[in-house]
Amino acid sequence: MANIVIDPQKTIGTISPYIYGHFTEHIGGVIYDGIWVGEDSSIPNINGIRLSLIEHLKRINPSVIRWPGGCFADRYHWQDGIGDRNLRPRRYGRWNDVTEPNHFGTHEFIEFCRLVNAEPYIAGNVGTGSAEEFQQWIEYCNAPKNTTTLAEMRGNNGSIEPFNVKFWGVGNEAWGCGGNFTPEDYADHYRQFTTWLPAYGLPLYCIACGPNGDDHDWTRRFFQQYAKASRTAINGWSFHYYCGSAGGAIDFTSAQWYELLNKANYMEKIINSQWELLAEFDPQHHIKLIVDEWGAWHPSGTEINPNHLFEQVSTMRDALIAGLTLDIFNRHADKVYMSNIAQMINNLHSLFLADENKFVVTPNFYVYEMYKCHQGNVSINVEFNSSEIDEMPYLMGSASMKDKMIFLTVTNIHIADSIETEIIINEGSIKEAVIAELANNDIHAHNTFENPYEVVTKIVKTEPRNGKLVFTFKPASVSCFSILLD
Ligand code: AHR
Repeated sequence: MANIVIDPQKTIGTISPYIYGHFTEHIGGVIYDGIWVGEDSSIPNINGIRLSLIEHLKRINPSVIRWPGGCFADRYHWQDGIGDRNLRPRRYGRWNDVTEPNHFGTHEFIEFCRLVNAEPYIAGNVGTGSAEEFQQWIEYCNAPKNTTTLAEMRGNNGSIEPFNVKFWGVGNEAWGCGGNFTPEDYADHYRQFTTWLPAYGLPLYCIACGPNGDDHDWTRRFFQQYAKASRTAINGWSFHYYCGSAGGAIDFTSAQWYELLNKANYMEKIINSQWELLAEFDPQHHIKLIVDEWGAWHPSGTEINPNHLFEQVSTMRDALIAGLTLDIFNRHADKVYMSNIAQMINNLHSLFLADENKFVVTPNFYVYEMYKCHQGNVSINVEFNSSEIDEMPYLMGSASMKDKMIFLTVTNIHIADSIETEIIINEGSIKEAVIAELANNDIHAHNTFENPYEVVTKIVKTEPRNGKLVFTFKPASVSCFSILLD
């Protein structure tokens, strides 16, 4: 029998709620058709924002939403997206060859965040913008009412009170679409962009563009250059990691199932290795890791709407990847401060798919719904003792604690084996447990507009015996335990 031993005495750190964040970009069907349907649409909406999306997001405590990109951010001029919607300029080719109507801008984004109780995280334009434009965007968002011309402009556009945006990204993927900078050039730009930021009493959280995956050269050269002149604030060091290319989104073999889960687990290596590297420049670890884009990126082919660039259907395999990755972040709660799954809707590792009046939640949504219990808790040590396949243990997961409750999330990556497991609390006794389980006999299972409930969470009841639980994990499953201690 396998076992899981939870040790509440061994604490790792507080799980930042921002680990459970999302990413939205002006690309394909994310903003237009996904989030924004327009006030005059027959699709139910609140102030132009899709109602079914708002309702479902509220179920998962979305904590933070990153916008407007991605690559789009480094071509976006924020003044294009304010004022009378009908008079806003239309721009071409800001991600691919489409026209951007600018109907969704700063005010619409803040409204969206407020409707779902999420903090806004705005990525500024370093690629084609200026330090002044960046600073003025902050002023527009955060200056107290009527104190400056930009604050007045914000009031005239419908928001007298400031938006109080705390999280600011200084560009996106500076090593690539964000300007193809060398690390040295970007370090100089970072300093310039952050030297004179208006705070208005709200400490800003500035996020610098870190590497593509685990690129040591980028990190090392950035910090060497950055240290050559006065240092401005860096609060977060972001990196992006997508796993992919193991079969298609829906068509994959058993071997490709394990291959992709192995690739997803590489996230843990990146976190450890970038953290170690940061210690050379920031020994006290004031700078935390921000994984502001991650997920599975499958070869194209499952777009439901041809205009939805990078739209892909998510199966049980993607749900397992979401579970594995969130567990990694929880286990490294001392290092990772924020993560933003790419992307929220109609793009890559989505939680939702929408096409005009159709809307469906993917298996990834249920993972977020289960895992929200970890937000703000103390991450605690947990050991998984189970057999291995393809050099991965069958069972992996994380645990957290709040008062007399322990929350345990577990993936069983084996596609055929059920695993009987004893769950033990070190120096503790289990009084009650409620278990939510996401499982399906078919590893390719996914939800569609026609069959929206193929993959859903089920609640399972198990009585503890002598303060322990014995539970059989279904093959290819993600489970969440809410445990009350004696
Ligand atoms: O998420 C899609 C794209 O992937 C983003 O625009 C970019 O930042 C990344 O390369």
